[in-house]
Order: sequence, then C-alpha cells, then structure tokens
Amino acid sequence: MPTVLITGANRGLGLEFTRQYLDCDWQVIACTRKPNADELLVLPTARLRICELDVTNHAIVDQLAGELQDMPIDVLINNAGTSGPKGAPECMAYSGFNNMDFEIWRQILEINLLGTFKVATAFRSNLVKSERGILVNMSSDLGSVAQNSLGNLYSYRTSKAGLNMMTMGFSKDWPDIVSVAMAPGWCRTELGGEGAEIAPEDSVCEQIRTIGRLTAEYSGCFIDHYGEPVPW
Ligand SMILES: NC(=O)c1ccc[n+]([C@@H]2O[C@H](COP(=O)([O-])OP(=O)(O)OC[C@H]3O[C@@H](n4cnc5c(N)ncnc54)[C@H](OP(=O)(O)O)[C@@H]3O)[C@@H](O)[C@H]2O)c1
Repeated sequence: MPTVLITGANRGLGLEFTRQYLDCDWQVIACTRKPNADELLVLPTARLRICELDVTNHAIVDQLAGELQDMPIDVLINNAGTSGPKGAPECMAYSGFNNMDFEIWRQILEINLLGTFKVATAFRSNLVKSERGILVNMSSDLGSVAQNSLGNLYSYRTSKAGLNMMTMGFSKDWPDIVSVAMAPGWCRTELGGEGAEIAPEDSVCEQIRTIGRLTAEYSGCFIDHYGEPVPW
C-alpha cells in the first residue's frame, strides 16, 4: 500500500488531498497544527495517521521524522502555506510596496519557504526508501517571475519564487527522487478566497493524476495541476 505524507492537512487543498488519497486506498499521514480538527476526525481511520506538525517548529519536524524513520514515503506533499492572516484579495492590504507588513512577510517566508525546506530535508530519507519517491512542493502561479503582470503581493510571490528555486536545487542535489513545484490553480479555499476559479476537489483530483505519472524527467520542473509547464 503506497504512503503519502501531507502537511497542512486539516483544511483547503491539504484536506482534499487527504480525502482523495484515502479514497484511492493509500496510507495517509496527515500532518496538521490542529490534530483534533473535526474535518479530519470524521475520516475513516484504518489507513489514516494524524500527526501534529507545525512546519515552523523544526524540533517537532525532526521528532516526527525520527518516529517515522523506517517508513518508506512514496509521495510527500509539502502543502502547508499561507498568504498571511487574510486570503485573496484582502491580503493585498499588507503586501504592497506602500503598505508592507514586514512581520507578516517574515511569517510567510518562515512557513512557505523555510518550513518547506525543513520538511523536505527531514523526510528525504523516507522518500529514498520508496521505489520512486516524489516530493511535491506546493507553489503558485503567483511565484512565476515571467507571469507577474500585476505587481503587489510581494510577500507571497517571493516565498513561492524562492520555493521554486529550492525545488530546482533539490532536483540537482537529490537525483534519487523526483522533486516538482506544483501550481494548483486558483482554488476556492481560505487562502484563495470565494472568488477563485477552481473547486479544491477538481484541482486535487488533477494533481493526484499528474503526480501518478511523474517520471524522473519531471524533476526540477514547475508544473500546473494538469502537469503542464508553468513559465518560471
Ligand atoms: N488556494 C489557492 O488558490 C492556491 C493557489 C496557489 C497555491 N496555493 C498553495 O496551496 C497550498 C494550500 O493552500 P490552501 O489554498 O489549501 O490554503 P488554506 O485553505 O488557507 O490552508 C492552508 C493550510 O496550511 C496550514 N498551515 C499554515 N501554516 C502552517 C504551519 N506553520 N504549519 C503547518 N501547517 C500550516 C493551515 O493550517 P491551520 O488551519 O493550522 O492554519 C492549513 O491547513 C499553500 O501552499 C498555498 O500557498 C493555493
């Protein structure tokens, strides 16, 4: 039975990944800051392990990696992320050139960039134990330098552009696993906001399909939920 580890599993895309991988008969390690979230507790428990994990708490990340050290992990979805205390479009109120909240920017980088790096490095050996370990770093179209036609959102954009660079680095340093940066599309979650284009279940369904057909050639690629390249 294949195993997936998902961060930020209690809501939004992370919860949807948890639900859909369970439906696909995978073993799911659902990592969350809120292990008692009702949305997780109602799920069938046979193949679900809920683990408390704040990706900014490096000691706890190491502790969980130690507990799971013998377990092969086939897919790691580095999903936990934030645009700060507000979703789109309200987050623009603290992330422009004229209204930047530097403390929120630091938190965004701590979660989206340093947290993603910490989780990837802590669980890399689990991915290597799988026959074909796949690391999915959850990026965004907003992290594309080439597609930045509107400005603003400096904090979120830079966190995801940094994550993209990190993913390329992993593909060079870790040829024994496949590392991709995934843009899920603009989805209706707390982060994406109510006006977003895509239902989380549709994006995640396509992402799981895409992840299922990733080969070594994809390592270091920035792709969308259909597996198509996103301009850097
Ligand atoms: N929705 C979109 O349109 C969209 C577009 C592009 C990229 N993305 C990316 O997709 C990923 C999921 O986003 P989403 O839309 O599902 O957002 P969401 O609904 O706001 O969910 C974010 C998840 O991340 C968790 N999280 C935040 N900080 C954390 C931390 N320090 N440690 C562990 N978990 C933490 C949250 O947990 P708590 O409940 O504890 O806060 C929550 O489970 C993010 O990386 C986001 O940047 C989303």
